[in-house]
Amino acid sequence: PTPVILDGDPGHDDAINILLALASPELDVLGIGTVFGNVGLEHTTRNALVTRELTRHSVPIYAGADRPLVAPRISAEAVHGHSGLDGPHLPPPQRGAEAGHAARFIIEAVRARPGEITLLPTGPLTNLALALRLAPDIAPLIRQVVWMGGSTDTGNWTPAAEFNALADPHAAHIVFSSGVPLTMFGLNVTHQAIAHPARVQAFRNLGTRAGEFVAVLLEFFAEHHRERYGWDGGALHDPMTAAWLLRPDLFVSRSMYVEIDLTDGPSAGRTVADVWHVTGRPQNVQVVTQVDADGFFALLVERIKRYP
Ligand code: BDR
Ligand code: CA
Repeated sequence: PTPVILDGDPGHDDAINILLALASPELDVLGIGTVFGNVGLEHTTRNALVTRELTRHSVPIYAGADRPLVAPRISAEAVHGHSGLDGPHLPPPQRGAEAGHAARFIIEAVRARPGEITLLPTGPLTNLALALRLAPDIAPLIRQVVWMGGSTDTGNWTPAAEFNALADPHAAHIVFSSGVPLTMFGLNVTHQAIAHPARVQAFRNLGTRAGEFVAVLLEFFAEHHRERYGWDGGALHDPMTAAWLLRPDLFVSRSMYVEIDLTDGPSAGRTVADVWHVTGRPQNVQVVTQVDADGFFALLVERIKRYP
């Protein structure tokens, strides 16, 4: 199996990515890092813990950064609710997070298995940026990073910027300029996978605790998307990162040069993508452009079905 480290800010779609990865024997999930983002670090860590308990998996969870490197902190209670995982009622977690910072965990894991580990960040890139600054030697040892964030077109938090990019643009810059092989799942592709009611029903029809958990998450997540975009469901961003490892045939991608706008002003945090190669600069990002949304949801249902 492919050794992976998840790192996110659960978050409805982050939680579903955790379930997808832990249900998949093709992936060996070595650990899960948490980061501030959708809500504060205490909540995102708790949400990772309660999601793990639903799976009965013993994967270690490490809390990471509670704030961005430089930018002011933003959060997304409007999308994910006060807890960051509003909707389902879950018992408090029985087991806590491990001692030690998520960035330290990344450093130690990558050094222990040079060239092997894939990182799947689905929130602000702060933990990975900290790891790269604390231990620059790990950059050539990371097999690849598959990140949900950014966009080749419009943003969702400002007209120009996607939430995960805007939440820590300097961290994103560190990762994008690190030379680590990077795949980007931006809004340009994640907005192609809407969890409309028929797709939600497929999870509920499983008749399991995990199926119901996912259905309730998606129903809560749909509310913001209905209001803001007029869509009949939420865009299922984060689980595309694990899905890419399991079924790359569901996606179309292209290499291009992408850099983060670090200036202040209306384009701050934008992932400026050189779609037409006008700069002639070396292509540093594999940008995913299309998804077979039916195939993606079918994969998710089939994997969630494996839980009791
Ligand atoms: C991203 O922001 C968060 O709200 C979601 O979890 C996803 O990672 C989408 O912009
Ligand atoms: Ca997220």
